[in-house]
Amino acid sequence: MMFKGMHIISMKNFSRKMIDHILDTAEQLEDIARNKEQSDILAGKILAVLFFEPSTRTRMSFETAIMRLGGNVLNLGSVDISSIAKGESLADTIRVVAGYSNAIVLRHPMEGAAKLASEFSSVPILNAGDGAGHHPTQTFLDLYTIRRESHLEGLKIALAGDLKYGRTVHSLCYALSHYGADITLVSPEELRMPQEIINDLKNRGLNVTETDSMESAIKDVDVLYMTRVQKERFPDDAEYQKVANRLKITPELLESARSEMKIMHPLPRTTEIDPGVDATPHACYFQQSFYGVPVRMALLALVMGAME
Ligand code: CP
Repeated sequence: MMFKGMHIISMKNFSRKMIDHILDTAEQLEDIARNKEQSDILAGKILAVLFFEPSTRTRMSFETAIMRLGGNVLNLGSVDISSIAKGESLADTIRVVAGYSNAIVLRHPMEGAAKLASEFSSVPILNAGDGAGHHPTQTFLDLYTIRRESHLEGLKIALAGDLKYGRTVHSLCYALSHYGADITLVSPEELRMPQEIINDLKNRGLNVTETDSMESAIKDVDVLYMTRVQKERFPDDAEYQKVANRLKITPELLESARSEMKIMHPLPRTTEIDPGVDATPHACYFQQSFYGVPVRMALLALVMGAME
């Protein structure tokens, strides 16, 4: 498998063999991510970080990942003080930044932005989220979390919350199709998973059911994957308020869940997970956000050619 120079744009570009290889590589690097071992396999390499939307985990875990492997970060910082504020196009920005770096991490509000950037870049583009499109590096860390904390093969999973705008669940569904999951989609009617994705999943042989009841959905699953309602993608605040607090997981609801059931969330959360859940053995979301470091280390080491 040749990852060197590869753009990481969508989970649709990855076979099961490629996914398993990335997760195995992340496992090899986990002790370095935990700072128990040191490495300089990316010494002399520069990672450019371009975020046109807010981020804490994705941006900082990429920065941690390159630094733990001995490389450096070149962060565009606030878009407002870059030449994008003067009207420079994404294509021109990418062409220039590619000349300063060995790979570019890009988050952008426009669906398709990462694909567009890859057409103008001489170095790998890693899609850190493109509007309501895809967020593949989040998916790799989600898969890594499921593999470490539960099991990937034959997984029973409930995906809950904003399934319309939530790009993390869109990417995760496609990835799970390689492992034969049973998927329960839990959302209010207004936030249903796009029918096109449901059709794709069924065509890939997945068992997919839909419900608006959290109570019934969590009874028999290995993983509950919660998501935030994506306020920033709603056309107006009134529409957002109608659905903002419709689904919530609480310690009381968890009484009907299996003891080994894990709760994941890409974070940030708002009201959808009661803080009382954090101290239960089901809560896995902070561990999940840490796993972003070894997974992004693996992706950087592979696309920069330091590992095979
Ligand atoms: N999960 C995730 O993408 O978090 P950030 O928006 O903080 O990067």
